[in-house]
Amino acid sequence: MEVNIKMTSNRFIPLAKPNILESDIENVAKVLRSGMLVQGTEVLNLEKELADFLNVKHVICLSNGTATLHTALMVLDIKEGDEVIIPALSYVATANVIERVGATPIFVDVDERSFNIDVTEIEAAITSRTKAIMPVHEFGLVADIGEIKRISDKHNLFLIEDAACALGSSENGKMAGTTGEFGSFSFHPRKAITSGEGGCLCTNDDKLAEKARILRNHGIDMSSGEMTFVEAGLNYRMTDFQAALLKGQLERVKDTLSYKSDLSDCYNRSLTNPNITVPIVKGTKTHAWQTYHVLIESPLERDQMISKLKEKGIGTNYGAQCMPAQEFYFKKYKLDSKSLFPNAYKAYTQGLALPLYELLTIQDIEYISQQVNQQK
Ligand SMILES: Cc1ncc(COP(=O)(O)O)c(C=O)c1O
Repeated sequence: MEVNIKMTSNRFIPLAKPNILESDIENVAKVLRSGMLVQGTEVLNLEKELADFLNVKHVICLSNGTATLHTALMVLDIKEGDEVIIPALSYVATANVIERVGATPIFVDVDERSFNIDVTEIEAAITSRTKAIMPVHEFGLVADIGEIKRISDKHNLFLIEDAACALGSSENGKMAGTTGEFGSFSFHPRKAITSGEGGCLCTNDDKLAEKARILRNHGIDMSSGEMTFVEAGLNYRMTDFQAALLKGQLERVKDTLSYKSDLSDCYNRSLTNPNITVPIVKGTKTHAWQTYHVLIESPLERDQMISKLKEKGIGTNYGAQCMPAQEFYFKKYKLDSKSLFPNAYKAYTQGLALPLYELLTIQDIEYISQQVNQQK
């Protein structure tokens, strides 16, 4: 039986919207009133809270989740002539930072259901130039990190986890981002907690943490008590008012993740269109549900669906890029994504991200599902 679910108002449901409370705004206002606007005690306190949450030794907050990846590569001295293995499907930042340090991204296809790097294809991509594996925990679902760690150890490679979307997801109880030399997170507004722009690195290694802190701050080493410029660093610092905005969100994040998990369960129950494939979470993994990503099968057409759902007041978009198919990468490497990375290419051309965030209700999800189900 088709249930006719009506929206409570004629509002447009955007693809994403952060849940900023008055108390968060007050936390920011306090910092603004203090006049201490750059990196200071708020950032330091947030780093301690994040380290507790992630159960790691060090967290280093930076200006965004691209700066974090770039810094991780610089700390590990990855440079021209080196290769870094990444999934073909991600946001382009994952590949761009590798290009920026002069190294070469080596693309590996993703699994067709988890959208994470296909671990069975990683070893074939390793050469004498490979320096690191950089898996992405795509859409917030942790990759097969235990197996990737086994491979990186076996071949003596660094492991950098692009956990931009995966704050709070885990495999076997171990948080995404905490297995490799570095884990990298983004605090962009579509993430579980946001400072507008922002990000952090985490690591259990004292020396790596120290070098990341130095590179974040113009290469300055204060360990002698004096300002010594020991590296050609950058200014990748987070401001104290951004850290203040994150403070309350981090306190609430477990509830946020649990509510998003309820909403995704509702999608799983309500989406019955036979031409839509819903995401699955296998084994001992948990999903942070940064994106609820479905695959659209023929005769449905993804881009048409984006337009039709927009007419119904629902914002959707494609989920992630098949990076080797983007202009820069295609011109440079001339890789035929359709044949070499069929799963990543399919996700890029047939994947659809549906709204999933704290400000939505179960009724909103039922309404969106009904509209998706009615697509023919
Ligand atoms: C997988 C992945 N890596 C890196 C980034 C870059 O993060 P930021 O936008 O904070 O620079 C993003 C951004 O969405 C991402 O999704």
